[in-house]
Amino acid sequence: MSSIKDAMSCFTTGVTVVTTHFENQDWAMTCNSFNTVSMDPALVLWSVGKGAFSNRAFTQSSGFLVNILSLEQRDLAIKFSTGSQADRFKDEPIERMKSQRTKLSLSLAWFDCEIEQRVSAGDHDILIGRVLEFGTSNGVGLALSKRQFGYIEPLNA
Ligand SMILES: Cc1cc2nc3c(=O)[nH]c(=O)nc-3n(C[C@H](O)[C@H](O)[C@H](O)COP(=O)(O)O)c2cc1C
Repeated sequence: MSSIKDAMSCFTTGVTVVTTHFENQDWAMTCNSFNTVSMDPALVLWSVGKGAFSNRAFTQSSGFLVNILSLEQRDLAIKFSTGSQADRFKDEPIERMKSQRTKLSLSLAWFDCEIEQRVSAGDHDILIGRVLEFGTSNGVGLALSKRQFGYIEPLNA
């Protein structure tokens, strides 16, 4: 018999690392609940577990920065989901944005956002952000399906 988690894992997603700067500290976690919401205004969302150590930092800070991971960054998906915050950023090339939030170098795309709305939903908090700044670079996106990392092979290739 399959679990609700098994069923949810059938939905193929990208993989992101979300960062924030709160109480003079950098915070980050791997996240695949990211999604786009609106073009005008540009809004995105993701959800942070209520049990996450960093929940307070993400829900109480004024914003967050989403790094869309590229295939070359696949090791970061695990690195930013385990260990201390200091370990996650160790040896990681970053750029600090005007907002003070950190962007990981080599990210496929990034969105620096101001929190527009916080919604409590079951065991997660949904954070909806208004995009202040964004950027893209060349590369292939990291995908996640059925708990396995991979990439999308275009059907018309
Ligand atoms: C691929 C992947 C996707 C994840 N997506 C989310 C997510 O969307 N929201 C969330 O709260 N945790 C997510 N996690 C789990 C967090 O990254 C993990 O619990 C992290 O340790 C939380 O950090 P903290 O407890 O130190 O705050 C994901 C983990 C992985 C490996």
